[in-house]
Amino acid sequence: MSTVKPITLTRHLEGELEVGGIDLTELAQTYGTPLYVLDEATLRDNCRAYTAPLSQHYPNYQVVFAGKAGLNKGILNLIAEEGLGVDVVSGGELYTALKSDVSPDKILFHGNNKSLEEISMALDHQIRIVVDNGQELKNIQTLCQQKACTANLLVRLKPEIEAHTHDYIKTGHIDSKFGIDKRELIDIISFIVDTPELKFLGIHGHIGSQIFDVEPYLDLVRIMVGHLVHIKSEVGVEVEELNLGGGIGIRYIEQDDPPAIDLFIEKLTTLLKEELKKAGLKEPKLILEPGRSIIGNAGLTLYTVGAVKPIPGIKDYVFVDGGMADNPRPMLYQAEYTFELANKAGKGKPYTIAGKYCESGDVLAEGVLLPEPSVGDVLAVYGTGAYNYAMASNYNRCQRPAMVGVFGGHSRVLVRRETYDDVIRYDL
Ligand code: LLP
Repeated sequence: MSTVKPITLTRHLEGELEVGGIDLTELAQTYGTPLYVLDEATLRDNCRAYTAPLSQHYPNYQVVFAGKAGLNKGILNLIAEEGLGVDVVSGGELYTALKSDVSPDKILFHGNNKSLEEISMALDHQIRIVVDNGQELKNIQTLCQQKACTANLLVRLKPEIEAHTHDYIKTGHIDSKFGIDKRELIDIISFIVDTPELKFLGIHGHIGSQIFDVEPYLDLVRIMVGHLVHIKSEVGVEVEELNLGGGIGIRYIEQDDPPAIDLFIEKLTTLLKEELKKAGLKEPKLILEPGRSIIGNAGLTLYTVGAVKPIPGIKDYVFVDGGMADNPRPMLYQAEYTFELANKAGKGKPYTIAGKYCESGDVLAEGVLLPEPSVGDVLAVYGTGAYNYAMASNYNRCQRPAMVGVFGGHSRVLVRRETYDDVIRYDL
């Protein structure tokens, strides 16, 4: 069951919070704030939440971590140890993956407008590519001819499923920018099958992100198996790989109710096996691409309270030393988070948590119940492992925070804090 907090998080009797065996205030003192903290035990546990039930119910599987949620070499080395691959969506993510312990045959390259340079990098390392459109396919073919190589391809299909989530993170609907229209699918696959330098591996469908219902995934299974039947009858091939994307939601606040991963996997694979059997098709390798549910609750952010500003009769602001530059999600998606003081237990009255950036909208949350905060207190925000560092910016020329991994009472820097010199690095 997805927890808001990392699995190793506990509060001592004296009131101090600890994660991975280390006090949060000690981490804040040692590394400074804002600080991203990654609980390695939670990350591993989340990986196993996928791999254990898959091994039991559908052993021909591959889990690829959706790296866009948050990747660096340290994170990738951990997920590689857990047997996961990674899906990348840019040259930069691919480069990071190639520099990590993830083996190239477990990397999958996504994107709706891959540049020639990016495709070329993928081909040079025999990375599987998920094709988004016809132009991309032509570009891949041309590059394969120039390089005298073969491309291993999946085709991304627009599944035409409306999932209930924020408009910005829906992807399966008909007017989505991602994927190939089902009416073009057979032509695209026939082209791949008939082109010597292209190898057709399978199809991909992804319905969106932060999804709490299992039903749209079951619809996806039915729709995708329908396409497999069609592909077999029209093109005469059975696919080797079926990729059902990612998107399972996580619990950011206690009221959130995402499905348990093991039950999700059981329902998904049971239906998939039934549908394949009914259709008389062999079982392809099942690929899943979870991002948020692998890393979201493994991360937390620490801030230091710099000031408390009451506006009498209206609200009380708590100012922290980060905000929209290290976590743009509240502003972008009205995302909610759970907050606690690392050094004081209990709930008091409501506070508005505001960042330090020069923008009124730089508010992380309203109405957060905290015991009376004072200057110097450390505020912990849970669930920031996914799409926080990944979407962080240098707004106001701030330095992006460090990320520290914790495990068994030890901590290590995964990404160092930026310096002022980093901030002016590209100024000429
Ligand atoms: N596969 C594909 C093709 C995707 O586009 C995505 C997410 C995933 C897998 C992983 O989805 P996840 O398991 O992480 O939900 N920045 C937004 C989320 C954007 C998601 C983009 N695609 C946010 O902060 O909520």
